[in-house]
Amino acid sequence: MTLQDQIDKSRLPRHLAVIMDGNGRWAKKKGLFRSLGHEKGSQAVREIVETCAELSIPYLTLYAFSTENWNRPKFEVDTLMKLLVSSLKKEIKTLEENNIKLNAIGNLDALPNKAHRELLDVIERTKTNSKMTLTLALSYGAREEIIKTIKEISLKVKNNLISPSNIDESVINNHLYTRDLPDVDLLIRTSGEHRISNFLLWQIAYAELYFTDTLWPDYRKDHLFEAILNYQNRERRFGKTSEQLNP
Ligand code: FPP
Repeated sequence: MTLQDQIDKSRLPRHLAVIMDGNGRWAKKKGLFRSLGHEKGSQAVREIVETCAELSIPYLTLYAFSTENWNRPKFEVDTLMKLLVSSLKKEIKTLEENNIKLNAIGNLDALPNKAHRELLDVIERTKTNSKMTLTLALSYGAREEIIKTIKEISLKVKNNLISPSNIDESVINNHLYTRDLPDVDLLIRTSGEHRISNFLLWQIAYAELYFTDTLWPDYRKDHLFEAILNYQNRERRFGKTSEQLNP
């Protein structure tokens, strides 16, 4: 039986998030420029997006560029932005064919004009697609998102639109970039690093975390199937006891 056949289709993660790490190390190991690692990484993005759509995972969120990534050398930032534009141009067809809606979270105004325009264009063109929502986290940082949320809610309190006593989880959820997405069920990080790196801090409160040594450019559908099978063998208790869940 293949790995794919072993997956229980009725217990898939509803929201899968991925920290795609290791492009630079992949390139270094092969004596190549880091930009080639990112280029190879974008091919892995396509395979994983198509596989998630095929499995009918409704929400996939990819950490493509963090607020901290702006501090990388200008050449690398420029390369990543160019890669984003070329991937969007090229992959619109993949999104259309697979009925995937593109979404983006982060401080998108910080993106170069060309990347921002291309992104908004693909978001607009795919907005009625319904099989899967692919969210790209771009110029994204969870702390920045939380600060923005607190500022927006504070302003509403100041203008008497919300009473402090009514602030609950749903009020916070509705002010995050991810307001239209469910909580993350499974978070995968590649490349052997065991960190969250300022990604979706609020949204991963009850996520299962899965770390693999595979570098992102080498990540293939079988690696994803292994992660999902591992997730399906875990008991998600959400603070309850095992006996409460299995009376
Ligand atoms: C981390 O590897 C990866 C990134 C900072 C960028 C992720 C981008 C891609 C996978 C390609 C383009 C994506 C899209 C959506 C078109 P790293 O450079 O930090 O690797 P290292 O830790 O080995 O240096």
